[in-house]
Amino acid sequence: MTQPVLNVLAVVGSLNRNSSTRSVINHVVGQLKAEGCAVDVLDLLGEPLPLFNPDSAHEAEGFSALKSRVERAAVYILGTPDYHGSISSALKNFLDHFWEEFAGKLFATIVASHEKGLTVTDQLRTVARQCYAWSLPYGVAFADQIDVQEGRVVSDSLDERLKMLVHDVRVYGQLLAGQRRADLAGTAPGFLAKHRK
Ligand SMILES: Cc1cc2nc3c(=O)[nH]c(=O)nc-3n(C[C@H](O)[C@H](O)[C@H](O)COP(=O)(O)O)c2cc1C
Repeated sequence: MTQPVLNVLAVVGSLNRNSSTRSVINHVVGQLKAEGCAVDVLDLLGEPLPLFNPDSAHEAEGFSALKSRVERAAVYILGTPDYHGSISSALKNFLDHFWEEFAGKLFATIVASHEKGLTVTDQLRTVARQCYAWSLPYGVAFADQIDVQEGRVVSDSLDERLKMLVHDVRVYGQLLAGQRRADLAGTAPGFLAKHRK
């Protein structure tokens, strides 16, 4: 049986005009499209989100269109710079706008860091867990100037890690999306039971 196309939302969590995070996300997006995925890119520089306010976020202009894009995706590729060992405020602000939409979906993380980005990756894994999302069992981190120069991935080791991520996003993204659909349509008492409409 042919599987539905895998919908991926890639988020650029750096507002830097010359962001290396953006370069790496674009590199991955090209590969995922070549593998047949439907990829939507949310670049928070070009599509800024107001600071999350629980009282008014749902009324903000463009919010319902963004919600539909988030709901459509089965996989989120989250790119962020390492700021003080943390995720960027732009990415955190995006994540704060949603939670139920993430349940049962897959997070794949990419961190621009000179220090391997481990604390940043862990923070994204924590967000995934809090929202009942899955995350790949690793994150990809890279150092700007070393792994990425003039908007291009220049190191073989980063290129290899990104190929691995693209493969795993496709394979595990499809598996999890298929199981999520089945669980939402079924009657079993799994964690997705409470997300049935
Ligand atoms: C406010 C601020 C805090 C930063 N903190 C760290 C840090 O704790 N560790 C680190 O490795 N890099 C840190 N950096 C460097 C950025 O992570 C690095 O320059 C990254 O490549 C920026 O990503 P971008 O090119 O996508 O904007 C910091 C940069 C800024 C502006």
